[in-house]
This record gives sequence, structure tokens and C-alpha cells, in this order.
Amino acid sequence: MVEFNLGADFVDFAADVMYIIEDRLVSMDKAFHYARLRHRLKAPLRVYYNAVSDVVRNYAYLSFMAKQLLGSSSRKAIAKTWLLLNTNDHYSRRLRKRVRGRVEGAEARLSEVKDNDPLTYLSIKYSFPRFIVEELSRGMGLSELEDYLSSLNRRVTWLRVNTLKVDLDKAIRLLEDEGVEFTQSRLYPFMLLVKGYRRPMGYLRLFKDGAVVPQDLASALVVLNLMPEPGDVIIDACAAPGMKTSLIMQLTDNKAEVIAIDVSKNRLSKMRSILRRMGVDDSRVHIMRSDSSRLRLTGVNVNKVLIDAPCTSSGAVSKDPGIKLILASNPGLVKRQSLVQSSILLNLINQLKDASIVYATCSILPEEGEEVIERINSSSSVSLVKPSVGDLSNGYVNYPVSSVVGRVMPHIHNAEGFFISKLTIN
Ligand SMILES: C[S@@+](CC[C@H](N)C(=O)[O-])C[C@H]1O[C@@H](n2cnc3c(N)ncnc32)[C@H](O)[C@@H]1O
Repeated sequence: MVEFNLGADFVDFAADVMYIIEDRLVSMDKAFHYARLRHRLKAPLRVYYNAVSDVVRNYAYLSFMAKQLLGSSSRKAIAKTWLLLNTNDHYSRRLRKRVRGRVEGAEARLSEVKDNDPLTYLSIKYSFPRFIVEELSRGMGLSELEDYLSSLNRRVTWLRVNTLKVDLDKAIRLLEDEGVEFTQSRLYPFMLLVKGYRRPMGYLRLFKDGAVVPQDLASALVVLNLMPEPGDVIIDACAAPGMKTSLIMQLTDNKAEVIAIDVSKNRLSKMRSILRRMGVDDSRVHIMRSDSSRLRLTGVNVNKVLIDAPCTSSGAVSKDPGIKLILASNPGLVKRQSLVQSSILLNLINQLKDASIVYATCSILPEEGEEVIERINSSSSVSLVKPSVGDLSNGYVNYPVSSVVGRVMPHIHNAEGFFISKLTIN
């Protein structure tokens, strides 16, 4: 139970955050920031942030309960339902009085849904749009699907020690001294899984210096599967703000050459300073603003390409639960992203020779993973190579390419959901 009086003001605030996410298609953090400018908050920011995150993360469950309890599933009814189920102030006690006896009835209705329509039940319980749950169910049984959805909602924090800036042992000692509890990845010791911390990690000197950065294991596995080596000339086709570029440079001890491309001026504007702060030799990173689906490559001898393609980010809902609301209200987004992904991949395949490509998306949807690769595989002369680093799961079993592509699965790898594939062009 939350110990602060949030009350009616919270209902307006949370409803506003949900509205902003759906209207402007922005992340929950951004929507929270905009809403803060319009409301006077009566409890510490952290209390509002945690409460609103929980509302957004559980929007479909709350919407179901709100309909049963309050006869409406409007945004305000969703926020009221969260309050009456999670708080005990005067406002929520009054709400509970109003719905007395109906909570058990609502839960009984949900059990009926479970018996009659298990996919709708999972979609309500874990608050994922029904079309996503249905799609995933084609590639796995109900019990695994439930583990998968539940783990996608669980926030896990990984840190990368940036060995361009600090010695690994020293970083470990300093983090321990600062009260950060973590376990070191056995295979990739520079990756640390955080278990707890004494004070917000953003305040630590190591963070400010770019010596330790938050980066999910899945994201690191994308780069590790590219296997960058000193002397490589690599295109990072969707590079901003540069987290994977900087890992390429870390793994090669600043001895690769990267052509870092992105279409977004805004995101690129931050990239140069991020790379400098992280100790990347920026004379070896050539930043270019361009659309990688139209880019023409002349006079460059590239041997590796990383395509960390723009996507729905549906594998990262634990970090940004707002993605669930965006997907629920814009199912057409998946198709649009998938077309962009295919065109970037195809354009680069058509212009390269003797090169390998890692194509990845932080998406759980096959339209942004297996289906992109199957389309490319049938229309061009590429060979698929199973990404060998990280003990990845196969792709979804209902696709022929399943055994030659990889997935990071949150319930197996304790990381965000990611699709990773590797192609060679001769
Ligand atoms: C998943 S993010 C990349 C994150 C980055 N690789 C990192 O690790 O920091 C996808 C990026 O693709 C960029 N993008 C979208 N469409 C693009 C296109 N047609 N060509 C190049 N970049 C594109 C977006 O601006 C965004 O920065």
C-alpha cells in the first residue's frame, strides 16, 4: 500500500499521462514530464512516478477491473481503480465503500475469462494488447507464454563497465564501496546485473564520467554477435545516440573504424558528446546524418554492418510501459516499422560484398524479426548464420528461419526481449 494521500488529484494526473502517451506517441517518461508541468503534485515525485508507472504497466487489468467496479474503463476510472486497489487514504476508502462487495465479483469474472479464453485472460492479467498475445501464442505453449509476458513486465537493470575509461577491477571496487550490489556476468565480466543500491546510481562519479553506463545485456549481445575486431570498418546504420557504437569501440580498444549513421538530427546532436564522455576515439567514428534505406555507399570498404533498427520497442516495456498503450491504440505501427526495417536491410545488402550484417530489434513481434529475415532471405542472395554469442534462444518456432536466428528471452536470459540475426553477403 502507498503511504501518501494521492486522492482525486492523482486521478487527473495519471489520466493525463495516459492521454499524452496515446496522443503524442511518446514514452512514459516524457509524458510524465509534460504532465508535471500542468499539475501541482502533492506527494514526492518518486511516489507519483512509481504509482503512474504501475497504472500504465497494468492498464488492461485495471481497465477490466474498472469496467466491473465502476461501470467505465475511461482513463480516470482506470486511475481510480488503481487507487482503490493500492492505497488506503480517505479518497480510496470512499471509493471502496462505493464498490463494496464488487471486487470479489470482478475477480470471479476474470477467472471465468481464464477458463473460457486463456489468451484474453493473459492479455488482461499482464496488460499486453490481445493481438500481441495471440501472435506469440503461435510460437509457444500457454505456460511458457505466461512466463514470457510476466518477465517482460519485470524491470531488470544491467550496467556496462566501460573499459575505455576505467579498469574493470577498479570499477567493481568503486561500485561496491558506493553500496551498489550486483553480480558479474560469467561470460561477459564487464556486464553487471544490479541487485540493489544505496542511493540513485546517476549520482555516482563513475556514471557522470561515462565509466559505467546503463546498458541491457540484450543490447550488449547484439554488438558481441557482430564480433568487432581491431581494423574492422563497420557501418552502424541506426547509430544514435551511440551506445552500441561505443561498445564496438570498447571491444576493439578504439581500433575499429565506424561510419555511424542516423536519420534523426536530434538524436545525433547528442551522440558526439556521449562518445567523447565515454572515451571513444572520435577520429575513428564518422558521424553522418542520412536515411539508411536510401544511403549510397561509394568508395568505402566496409566489412561489417550493424542494423539496430527502429522498432516498436515491445521488448523494452519494462523500461517504458507506455509502449503498451501506444501499441494498443496503434496496431498499424507494427506494419509501418516493419517496412522501414526491411528497406534499410535490403538497401545495405544490395550495396555490399564480402560483409556480414547483424540485424536486430528490441521487439518481441515476429513482424520485426523473423518475418523481415524471411522476406529478405527469399528475395536476395544472403546466407543466414546463427548468432553464436550469448546462448540465444531460437527464433519463434512457427517460422522456418527459427533455427538460424536468435532471440533474447526475458524469462531465460534475464534481459530485455530482443531479436538478433546475422547474415553474410558474398
Ligand atoms: C534502436 S534506435 C538505435 C539505438 C542505437 N543503436 C544505440 O545503441 O544507441 C534506432 C535508431 O534508428 C534511427 N532511424 C530510424 N529510421 C532510420 C533510417 N531510415 N535511417 C537511419 N536511421 C534511422 C532512429 O533515429 C534511432 O536513433
